[in-house]
Parts: sequence; structure tokens; C-alpha cells
Amino acid sequence: MALAFEVKHLKFTYPSSKKTTLDDISFSVEQGKIFGLLGPSGAGKSTTQKILTKLLTDYSGEVLYFGKEIKTLDRSFYERIGVGFEAPVHFNKLTGNENLAYFSSFYKTKTDYAALMTRVGLADAGNQAVGEYSKGMKVRLNFVRALLNDPDFIFLDEPTNGLDPTNAHIIKEIIKELREKGKTIFISTHLMGDVEQLCDQVAFINHGHISEIASPQALKLKYGKHEVTVEYANHGTSEKRVFDIANLGTNQAFLDTLKKEQIITIHSGETTMEDIFMKVTGEMHE
Ligand SMILES: Nc1ncnc2c1ncn2[C@@H]1O[C@H](COP(=O)(O)OP(=O)(O)OP(=O)(O)O)[C@@H](O)[C@H]1O
Ligand SMILES: [Mg+2]
Repeated sequence: MALAFEVKHLKFTYPSSKKTTLDDISFSVEQGKIFGLLGPSGAGKSTTQKILTKLLTDYSGEVLYFGKEIKTLDRSFYERIGVGFEAPVHFNKLTGNENLAYFSSFYKTKTDYAALMTRVGLADAGNQAVGEYSKGMKVRLNFVRALLNDPDFIFLDEPTNGLDPTNAHIIKEIIKELREKGKTIFISTHLMGDVEQLCDQVAFINHGHISEIASPQALKLKYGKHEVTVEYANHGTSEKRVFDIANLGTNQAFLDTLKKEQIITIHSGETTMEDIFMKVTGEMHE
């Protein structure tokens, strides 16, 4: 599979800042996959997205889009990408549909945004002024806006932030459908639910450094506790025994416990993405 983006030794410092914002980060995004950039607030997620979308250009290192340094790409690059900004700016006096018609006019390729508005539950609100939208409605409008030009590569900065579970679910379903259509998606988030349900690959960023890149499954294997805890009854109380998950089927002590004891519960040591986030980003307060 082709690499949509290759980021090599990317370094960036905001002109007004004394601190390096991104300090030598490298990763690649495979075409047709969902890539998640995870990290705590202030880690550098939105800054990375701004660089990859050519909004910030004063960086060192390489940012290649299908093998070409993005600094050398002309405006046709914007025809191919869709961008969901972290803090969207809409025209508050215009309706949702008028906003979309306006932003759509910048692109050669158009998409059926009325169908998308229906999908995200904004069909009726399409004719309402955006200034009257709730926060979640604005987030959904922003999502539709990112898809206006039927892009091949979609950047979404916190796409479900501030949405209720039902609306977040709808957005996640659409993101998965986009992947099925062969689109590539780059999500910045600190919401672990998004990562577990969507991402094929995740990179953890913290203080401008990438500390880990892997699939969510590989991370769970790496950071998971490889053990099984068996809880059983013992004279009116409960006791626990812990076994290594490897070779359980031939572990005599485990098999004896199952045979002889009155089992109450059996748990494997599954680590959640939240646990991994806190471990990898060093935000664990133990
Ligand atoms: N325009 C700016 N000028 C100077 N510093 C900035 C600017 N924008 C962001 N920063 C700094 O860069 C660092 C990274 O910010 P960034 O917005 O990329 O973080 P983030 O990971 O997206 O965080 P969040 O989860 O809160 O959105 C922070 O220390 C922030 O203060
Ligand atoms: Mg951000």
C-alpha cells in the first residue's frame, strides 16, 4: 500500500515561542487507512495538522505527500484534501447550507452535501443561521464542510469532541465508510473511544515528541497484562489466583483450580486504551 504522507524529522517552533513545539517527529500514513494522532492537550496535534495542511510552512525536516514535499505542491493539493479544523470559523449570519455553498464554491469537485447534512441530523437546520446552532451542531457542520470537495485525504481535528454518544456514533460510522471507499483519514484526538473504534495505526505525541507508533491491537498486546485472574469461593469468602496467560491449557495449577474450586469470576488482564494513553504519555499519577 502506498504511503499518503511521510513525515521525516519534522521540527517546528512558533515564532512567538521560546520552546520547540515539534521536536524531530517522524511517522507515515498509509493510503486507505485511519491514522490517529493522540496526545494530551498542548502536545502538538493541531500544530502537526496545520503543517500537513500547509497552513504553517516554516518547518524543518520533510513532509511528503505521495513522495512529494508539500512545500513544492500548488493549490491543487487543496482539491485533494479535506480539512476539519479544531476551531471552525463559519459565517454566523448565513445558514448552514449557505455556508456550505460558499465553501464549496472554492472547489472544482463538489459533493452532495444535502445528503451529508441529513446523515448528521442537520437537514432541517440547514436553513437556520449558524449563529443559532448549538456547539454540537457546529461540530457536525464542520465535519460536513471537511468533505465538501470529496477529498481523498481527510484531516479531522477532534471530530467528535463535544458530541453526544449518538451523534458521535454517526460521525464514526461515516468515517469508517470513507475508509471503505478508499479514503485516507488523519484524526487528531485525545478521545480513546475514537481510537479503539476507528484507528488502524496510532502515534502518541507528547511535548512535541512521538513516543510510540503502533496499531491499537499491538499496543494492547504490548502494554496489556498477560495474566488471568481466577476468583473462587473459599469458606464463605473469595480468594484469587493469578496465572500467566501463556500455555494456560497445560498449566496444571490453573486446571486444578478450575476442576476443584467453586469459580466466581475469571478475568483476563485487558488493558484499556485509556491505561495505555496514560502510560505512554507519562500522565499516570501513581
Ligand atoms: N499560534 C501559536 N503561537 C504560539 N504557540 C502556539 C500557537 N498555537 C499553539 N501553540 C503552542 O504549541 C503547543 C502545541 O499546541 P497544539 O495546539 O498543537 O496542541 P494540541 O495537541 O492540539 O492540544 P489540544 O488537545 O489542547 O488541542 C502548545 O504548547 C501551544 O501553547
Ligand atoms: Mg488541538
